[in-house]
Amino acid sequence: MSPIKSVQARSVWDSRGCPTVEAVVTLVDGTQASAIAPAGASTGSGEARELRDGGTALKGLGVKAAVEATHQILAPAIVGMDITDQAGIDQAMQAADGTPDKSRVGGNSMIAVSLACLWAASKQAGQPLWQYLRADNVAALPLPEIQIFGGGAHAKGSVDLQDFLVVANGATCFEQSLEWTAEIYLAASKMLAQQGKMLGVADEGGFWPQFGSNEAAIAALLDAIVMAGFTPGKEVSIALDLASTQYFDGTRYHWRSEGRSFDRDQLLATYARWADNYPIISMEDGFAEDDVEGMCAMTQLLGHKMQIIGDDFFVTHAPRISERAGRGACNAVLIKPNQVGTVTETRQAVEQARRLGMDCIISARSGETEDVSIVHLAVGWDVPQLKVGSFARSERMAKWNEGLRIEQTAARTRPFPSPNLFPWIKKAGAAR
Ligand code: PGA
Ligand code: ZN
Repeated sequence: MSPIKSVQARSVWDSRGCPTVEAVVTLVDGTQASAIAPAGASTGSGEARELRDGGTALKGLGVKAAVEATHQILAPAIVGMDITDQAGIDQAMQAADGTPDKSRVGGNSMIAVSLACLWAASKQAGQPLWQYLRADNVAALPLPEIQIFGGGAHAKGSVDLQDFLVVANGATCFEQSLEWTAEIYLAASKMLAQQGKMLGVADEGGFWPQFGSNEAAIAALLDAIVMAGFTPGKEVSIALDLASTQYFDGTRYHWRSEGRSFDRDQLLATYARWADNYPIISMEDGFAEDDVEGMCAMTQLLGHKMQIIGDDFFVTHAPRISERAGRGACNAVLIKPNQVGTVTETRQAVEQARRLGMDCIISARSGETEDVSIVHLAVGWDVPQLKVGSFARSERMAKWNEGLRIEQTAARTRPFPSPNLFPWIKKAGAAR
């Protein structure tokens, strides 16, 4: 055990060219570790608040105030503390901030420091972070959920749905799941180029296509899976992040790219038809962040055959998970450490979801960096799925490559994917 000697912060740059906070924690014995905060674009209103400078420079996105708050408020609160006491450190930072949404020091400052402390503790213990988090030394590699097409707020609304992803549920190891995804990404690229539909690459590295409708993008994704030689559903499935708060006006849901609008029942009927016609393994944020009734109806209708995931809907808050899931909303939870602001609260969200029998997916943000903390959290906490955007650009590939390194160097790995995932697929297999 060595106490914290100092906490330094600096402004660095994320994958969108925006400033973000890097924290560096130094221990009395000289051990040093760092972590960088990511940033969302389609953020939930219940998230920990980022501290940004405002004004005209850098569109108001500067983080000088957050760096200052790290030095003036967070550092004095935790210097001298035992680095192995993550819960105590996180608690001291929350107390120093003193607000319910971390708006005084910023969730961006706090998550960077919290993660840097965790890295420092693992470094001091002489272990990779994932191993430091596990008692049994078994690496639990997560099943990747990888974006092929991007839309919504990440692609200037070219289509309304945000993420069209693939999940290689038939792969038998992490490495194979990436190889399969790479084949699909390449097949999709070829297909879009041939059809003249390629507009560019969206914020998370997925293609930003010119499609006539949201459903056309789902159909194209299915085509890409088949073109790449995989059996849809059995080997590779489709996942959608609908990010529907972006197309909800408080009363109705609007798909601007198609000029259509829906009430709750009509939207649910559309989702149900897609569930019948495509090999969809999960739908995320199908209803808006406060439309609990919509999410409950969706879970009741479709929850027996796919994951109904809450992202902006739960914002990684354990109390919100227990309250809303207790009412019947969702059967899976997206986990984003910076939504809640500390490692300890992120862990509490995972544990709360587990107590309720829900699956978890650890996720990156649309604004990312070379930081690979989430990969270690997934492997170390045995969170069975990982969502990191697409299969391009180094802020994404850094995470996939870190997973490969862990899989290849671990002495033991648990079966892949996690044996308890997607019971409905196993049931269908048994019936055949
Ligand atoms: P965000 O999007 O990081 O822009 O919030 C990612 C997601 O919605 O999963
Ligand atoms: Zn989402």
